[in-house]
Amino acid sequence: MDDFRLCVLVSGGGTNLQAIMDRIADGTLKGVSISCVISNNPDAYALKRAEKAGIPAICVSRKDHPDNDDFNRALLQAIRSSDPMLVVLAGFLVVLPAEVINEFGGRIINIHPSLIPSFCGKGYYGLHVHEAALARGVKVTGATVHIVDEGTDTGPILIQKPVMVEDSDTPETLQKRVMEEAEWVILPEAINRMAKDFFEGRGK
Ligand code: GRF
Repeated sequence: MDDFRLCVLVSGGGTNLQAIMDRIADGTLKGVSISCVISNNPDAYALKRAEKAGIPAICVSRKDHPDNDDFNRALLQAIRSSDPMLVVLAGFLVVLPAEVINEFGGRIINIHPSLIPSFCGKGYYGLHVHEAALARGVKVTGATVHIVDEGTDTGPILIQKPVMVEDSDTPETLQKRVMEEAEWVILPEAINRMAKDFFEGRGK
């Protein structure tokens, strides 16, 4: 029986990628494998994590392409080559080209570090999300896994997990807790659900 193959797209440290690899290693994610990790950033530590785990890891950088169209084609080709059942955006800081969404529609998920629809959309990435949450004074934040559509953070929500804000929080401490308590938990959980649906759909 084929594994449920993931293509994981990253731009940075790759702690969410690590959480997926750890859940595969400890058997929580049964029948799941990562066929490729793709980064747009050659210096992303996520690439090293993949290499250490023996997972094919490649960089598709906008800088190596003359224009956006060429970059988009290269990205689509790289994803296609890994023949994934699911594309996982795990801290991928590039707006996904329409070509990729058209081809893999409904089979792309993203992790966002807030409770959508709060603090999401254009400009809300990385620490900015947590700065905005603290500036607004919310007492609860969290993370969301959603299906990716043409919009930014607009697709159907799969899983959310709340995290309490503490009075002493800085954007950095809040970011760390949201990752530890929510992101690293719900991203593997969403993958597990989609893998189960896939295997059930195939009657296995
Ligand atoms: C995470 O906060 C994720 O929600 C956001 O980017 C960050 C990526 O962190 N989209 P990492 O590269 O997985 O460590």
